[in-house]
Amino acid sequence: MRAPGSPDPAYWRLHARRYDRAALLLNRRLPLLASRLAEILRGRRRVLELAAGTGLFSEPLARAIPSLVATDRSPEMLDILRGRLASSGARNVEILLVDALHLDWPPGEFDGVVAANLLHLLPDPAAMLAESRRVLVPGGLLAVPTFAHGDNPLARAVSRLLALSGFPIVTRFSGNALPRLVESRGFRVVLRDRIAGILPIHAVVARKE
Ligand SMILES: C[S@@+](CC[C@H](N)C(=O)[O-])C[C@H]1O[C@@H](n2cnc3c(N)ncnc32)[C@H](O)[C@@H]1O
Repeated sequence: MRAPGSPDPAYWRLHARRYDRAALLLNRRLPLLASRLAEILRGRRRVLELAAGTGLFSEPLARAIPSLVATDRSPEMLDILRGRLASSGARNVEILLVDALHLDWPPGEFDGVVAANLLHLLPDPAAMLAESRRVLVPGGLLAVPTFAHGDNPLARAVSRLLALSGFPIVTRFSGNALPRLVESRGFRVVLRDRIAGILPIHAVVARKE
């Protein structure tokens, strides 16, 4: 289901310092999911992370992958990510300000792309999937775990409250909508899971066909 609204960089500027607490409140299994995804991607050589935010996923990814490029469109979110990675001692992460819909890398630059909790914020998620597909090598892995604001009545109610506070929700994913979207864009889903929480996360890992 689609809700009105569009991604708003001002939202992330205003909420960057509160993001980790809020995200963990909505789904306390996020760190476990991030570690599991990092293990699934272990063995990849060079991974692009889109909408990395404060680095909840970047930190375990950096431990598993030799070369990580962590990107986001919000400088304020990236400031927190930078601090997190500095504290963890990671030396293998390039941090860049990047719009996930306009990637400058040539085709096949990465063998993994991670975009956690981004697709529900984009008016045109297919455009992001197309860009991710372009920069992946054939057989490359895409991981898109995404808060599913339409998963159940409680999630929908929480989502409506978040929207009233300015949260820029666009798509309230439910059922099979996320894997179907990914498969419709030239990927084969190799793993899917539902991570229970106040806002459940639908986790999808897919291979570029
Ligand atoms: C819900 S947070 C997710 C952060 C992190 N991936 C996580 O799961 O904890 C959404 C992030 O998407 C970023 N974002 C939204 N639209 C974007 C776009 N078009 N390109 C890059 N980043 C974007 C925001 O700046 C914000 O940091």
